[in-house]
Amino acid sequence: MTRQTMRFTTARHDLEQAAMLLRDGETVAFPTETVYGLGANALDARAVDKIFKAKGRPSDNPLIVHIAHRDDVHQLVTHIPELARLCMDHFWPGPLTLILPCTDAVPANVTAGLDTVGVRMPDHDTALQVIALAGVPVAAPSANRSGRPSPTTAEHVLEDLSGHIAGVVDGGAAGVGVESTVLDVTGAVPMILRPGGVTREMLEHLLGPVAVDPALGNETIAPKSPGVKYTHYAPRGTMYLVEGEQALVEMQRLVQTADQKVGVLTTDEHKDLFPTAAHVISLGSQDDLATVAARLYDAIRSFDHHEIEVIYAETFPEDGIGLAVMNRLRKAAGHRVILAE
Ligand code: TXA
Ligand code: MG
Repeated sequence: MTRQTMRFTTARHDLEQAAMLLRDGETVAFPTETVYGLGANALDARAVDKIFKAKGRPSDNPLIVHIAHRDDVHQLVTHIPELARLCMDHFWPGPLTLILPCTDAVPANVTAGLDTVGVRMPDHDTALQVIALAGVPVAAPSANRSGRPSPTTAEHVLEDLSGHIAGVVDGGAAGVGVESTVLDVTGAVPMILRPGGVTREMLEHLLGPVAVDPALGNETIAPKSPGVKYTHYAPRGTMYLVEGEQALVEMQRLVQTADQKVGVLTTDEHKDLFPTAAHVISLGSQDDLATVAARLYDAIRSFDHHEIEVIYAETFPEDGIGLAVMNRLRKAAGHRVILAE
């Protein structure tokens, strides 16, 4: 279905209109501190279904439910383990999604039929206002077409979903730039299912040992795999990560000998090493991973705007937010890794 997508500012009157659309069972995209989300009333299965249709999202991928007040969690979850309570105290509002056992009030399409639900309270004034004005919990995946990089601006949202959603609130650039950390707190040891804005180090400081889903580690041992089924956040061109001690030399060689329109994803320190590339994007200084994260998805999208056919990307240390950055880069590259040692 194609129709006009309404654009809202962050003025109170606009946010009230956006919230009204949500209450009426429509889909509205809005900024959060991580990326833009595509919201719908989380308690209305038909509204939630519109999210899946607009995104082209597989129905087996559950959604995160966003709340504006901590007490709103009680209608969604059957109980809150002590670990989860600690996390809420320290990291909410913020980029941490907690996986908790869900109540019957949560429709099956939100949870993809699981008996758990992901909940978070975003640390973003506009998001909190929209959710509070809607008066319902808001299910919101990232507001991109499925498989594309998550949107960090309203323009990105419209690039993917214009005509397929009822509205978008333009609140400028999102902050962190990569999605929230998804933490399963239903077991004895908390487990990171997706690295994100709240780092493993931050969680371990509070909770003690935190596991990382072994499936995340496995991705790194599938180099050069076409891995179509795992591709996500992907540009239209083919992306390769270049890793190892000789990575920069190898990247220069690959760029010089490329017979396709070539792009480079790099850092301030190295951006001048590739004079023959058609499009060179720096994510900032290699020592400033927060900026690298904030710029990542816009950079990946920009290769499409320049119709780049092949992209070589630098890699980053996996400490702090670097774990999330490398997780997204590996997915964007469909796990194609060139080792240069
Ligand atoms: O930062 C974010 O988390 C953004 C903003 C909009 O809040 N949202 C977001 O949503 O990234 P989405 O749908 O793109 O990613 C949700 C992730 C998926 O990896 C999904 O599998 C996981 O959360 N997830 C949701 N519910 C889950 C559950 N019950 N069990 C396990 N994983 C779950
Ligand atoms: Mg997403």
